[in-house]
Amino acid sequence: MMLSMDLGSDSYNIVIERGALAQAAQYFQLNRKVLIVTDSGVPAEYAEKIASQCQTPFIETFPQGEEHKNMQIYQTLLKRMVQEGFSRSDCVVAVGGGVCGDMAGFAAASYMRGIDFYNVPTTLLSQVDSSIGGKVAIDFEGYKNIVGAFHQPKGVLIDPDVLQTLPPRQVANGMAEAIKMAATCDADLFAFLEEKDPMQEIESVIAGALKIKKNVVEQDPKEKGLRRVLNFGHSVGHAIESVAGFSALYHGECVALGMLVMAAPKPRARLKKVLDKVGLPTEYTYDSARVIEAMKMDKKVSEGSLTVVTVPKIGAFDFEQIPLNELEHKMKEVL
Ligand SMILES: NC(=O)c1ccc[n+]([C@@H]2O[C@H](COP(=O)([O-])OP(=O)(O)OC[C@H]3O[C@@H](n4cnc5c(N)ncnc54)[C@H](O)[C@@H]3O)[C@@H](O)[C@H]2O)c1
Ligand SMILES: [Zn+2]
Repeated sequence: MMLSMDLGSDSYNIVIERGALAQAAQYFQLNRKVLIVTDSGVPAEYAEKIASQCQTPFIETFPQGEEHKNMQIYQTLLKRMVQEGFSRSDCVVAVGGGVCGDMAGFAAASYMRGIDFYNVPTTLLSQVDSSIGGKVAIDFEGYKNIVGAFHQPKGVLIDPDVLQTLPPRQVANGMAEAIKMAATCDADLFAFLEEKDPMQEIESVIAGALKIKKNVVEQDPKEKGLRRVLNFGHSVGHAIESVAGFSALYHGECVALGMLVMAAPKPRARLKKVLDKVGLPTEYTYDSARVIEAMKMDKKVSEGSLTVVTVPKIGAFDFEQIPLNELEHKMKEVL
């Protein structure tokens, strides 16, 4: 199936299709120099499959992991384009998860003030969330995504078949973001997640989540307001993530915990069941003082309060300003 992101001159298509990797040339303009960016954890055959459809491909493979979403690797990508004589009419294709897409996208956004970028997301998280919406970035000086840009892709190709090689814990990680979108914006999708086995219905889950994200991004491409709904579970989640250490708990696992804190009791009970079912954590032993300390570093804290997304009932959301001490109390009560 095909979705289109309607953003005026920045519009693009999102293709969701099994085996689509082999059809990339049908959807992307690959008749030029193409920098294919991938990482060491992504099976090499995926990038090779794209390369075989390009006129002049160059593959850059960086070491996997969030710690490599950094200035040094970003520079390596730019250097390669300079060395190979990339012009403004050449392009970049990311073949990997969110780390790869964010960094390759930022290289494309900044090279010659912006060249074409295509995304072939290969993790569930990147397929349901990070590959669409145009946010690209790298981490810097210990801060996540602190240097980046808005640069919409020219096309996104989602091949659910690549998830066969993705470890189950990474699949669950991506499921957290899909659950986030259903819980805040789509009661029907949430009911679907409750009734079915989401792992067996992965294509419907991807399409459902992307429709929600597409709607939100179309209304608020630069995150001036509504798009912040996508941060449901993320304020508490990010703080837990930084205290636990980025590798100990996955992002989606922290978001799962964060969502439980921010949902009202009734939706919380439903969330808990769905999270349990897909193998995400619903309990966590932690040092609440350290989590609160980490939360104080949040960009969104002002005068001791934080604006958070709450879910009063499944399929609905509010933006609320909550004092940090109240948040600490809630965390103790829920987790
Ligand atoms: N731009 C956005 O809007 C946005 C939204 C959410 C998250 N993000 C970013 O996304 C990143 C997280 O993305 P992620 O969860 O995809 O992590 P990731 O890119 O690190 O991928 C996770 C692991 O899976 C491996 N992998 C990827 N595809 C595979 C496959 N098909 N088979 C086997 N292994 C595979 C990777 O090598 C990596 O080790 C974070 O940096 C986060 O900031 C961005
Ligand atoms: Zn997230």
